[in-house]
Amino acid sequence: MSKIKQGMVNLGKKWDEKFCKFVPFYDEMVNSLISAIPFKPNDVFSAIDLGAGTGEITKRIKNLFPYAKITCLELVEDMLEMARVKLAGYNDITFELGDFKNYQFTKKYDVIFSSLAIHHLEPTDQKALYCNLYKALNNNGIFIHAESVLGANDFLNAVSYQTYYDLITKNISAEELVTLQAAIKTHDNPVKLIDHITWMQEIGFKDIDIIWRKATCAVFCGTICKDGETL
Ligand SMILES: C[S@@+](CC[C@H](N)C(=O)[O-])C[C@H]1O[C@@H](n2cnc3c(N)ncnc32)[C@H](O)[C@@H]1O
Repeated sequence: MSKIKQGMVNLGKKWDEKFCKFVPFYDEMVNSLISAIPFKPNDVFSAIDLGAGTGEITKRIKNLFPYAKITCLELVEDMLEMARVKLAGYNDITFELGDFKNYQFTKKYDVIFSSLAIHHLEPTDQKALYCNLYKALNNNGIFIHAESVLGANDFLNAVSYQTYYDLITKNISAEELVTLQAAIKTHDNPVKLIDHITWMQEIGFKDIDIIWRKATCAVFCGTICKDGETL
């Protein structure tokens, strides 16, 4: 079993209790992600949630966009099962057990979103995934990514991590902090925010923007070409 898969199996049921503690700005971050969805509440659109976890973000999107058709793609069966339970009362949700690293996109989406998941891939695989996402978007589609990122240099990176640790030490014990720091070291491969933006520019995304940033996390997005343009 891969390191990330084992780590997530261990995290398992605790994710829903813990994300508020470990990501104290989770609501703010997710609200920013959702605010970038360019649809009206009653519009029908297709979306995919990459690394859906327990389905929390999909649930929040469905509460605002009840006609969205969302695929929850998740690597870990326990997580996907929790998503199935959490989203049991909602229509038009598809659950897929799979790895976004080698996922075959057989259809295109209006919205591709992901939160705190893609940084588990090696940087080269993150960029390769971005290429696949670009091809998997409908015309005028948007990719919205809430992610753990590095600062632009060692100093700025240390500042962002210090800000993060200052925020979470109010919520967690010294022991939990040590465990978290070890997990970050073992499972996470965050890259600089500017690298994400550069990759997206190189691949051809348009209207790239950073819509939110706090401590070690950011929400950024990019669209594909507008109607009338050709790829
Ligand atoms: C930190 S959780 C975030 C869950 C959810 N996106 C949220 O923000 O509430 C990361 C999730 O991504 C999943 N994940 C990590 N790597 C993955 C991969 N290669 N393919 C699919 N899911 C993956 C993990 O199993 C885990 O459920």
